[in-house]
Amino acid sequence: MRFEGKKVLITGAAGGIGAEMLTRFRAEGARVAVADRETGGLEADALLPGDLLDHAYADRLPGEAAKALGGLDIVINNAGVITRGAVTETSDEDWSLSVGVNVEAPFRICRAAIPIMEKTGGGAIVNTASCWGLRPGPNHALYCMTKAAIASLTQCMGMDHAHQGIRINAVCPNEVNTPMLRSGFARRGFDPDSAVAELGRTVPLGRIAEPADIADVVLFLASDEARYVCGTLLEVNGGKPVS
Ligand SMILES: NC(=O)c1ccc[n+]([C@@H]2O[C@H](COP(=O)([O-])OP(=O)(O)OC[C@H]3O[C@@H](n4cnc5c(N)ncnc54)[C@H](O)[C@@H]3O)[C@@H](O)[C@H]2O)c1
Repeated sequence: MRFEGKKVLITGAAGGIGAEMLTRFRAEGARVAVADRETGGLEADALLPGDLLDHAYADRLPGEAAKALGGLDIVINNAGVITRGAVTETSDEDWSLSVGVNVEAPFRICRAAIPIMEKTGGGAIVNTASCWGLRPGPNHALYCMTKAAIASLTQCMGMDHAHQGIRINAVCPNEVNTPMLRSGFARRGFDPDSAVAELGRTVPLGRIAEPADIADVVLFLASDEARYVCGTLLEVNGGKPVS
């Protein structure tokens, strides 16, 4: 029960990794507000559905979560989108979507959350970057760029807001078995189960990550066990380098 009485906001809570974190935070005593485009089927303490591309919605989220839960201790910026291809195959829509969801929304949410959290003695923010934001892989130019941006923003905010008692870190997964990855395989005409199994053979630990593998690390970063971890980019990759 590491999070007894803690108030948590999770974005992208309906997704693969988000849903796992929601269950785990609640199982350890937290009260959780969830944000996603659709929150209907989620078991949470506050449902805050909306589109993170809507600036006003992203700006308001931390305040709404604090109002619904009676405070805000932990923010998990987990929502994300992936666009594939080289820059020459990238549309204006891809740009607005990727930058909007992966960088601008976490920026807006952190900007609004930090003063709220400071008033009650601080807390923790965990952003979701990617191994591909630290060392880019081929044919995902925009995705890698946005994950590099959120990684850098995390390091900057980690320095700038530590004095307010707020620890800001990022988790950097490699491939995770979630709808994001599986729908990409399906779109390209592969069977997701065999593609995931095949991909697993390229990982030194023998499989790609399951959502729980990432959720455990995020909960660690959000917990008091990580009380001296600040501005860190924590890779969770089964030993697999970006190739
Ligand atoms: N799956 C992977 O291989 C992998 C690897 C590295 C990093 N990540 C990152 O992990 C995070 C979670 O990804 P996942 O794999 O669970 O993906 P997912 O697609 O299962 O979940 C992402 C969630 O974000 C929500 N979302 C997207 N755009 C939104 C918007 N405009 N407004 C509101 N909600 C929106 C989606 O509805 C979805 O529920 C993402 O930031 C992703 O980039 C994933």
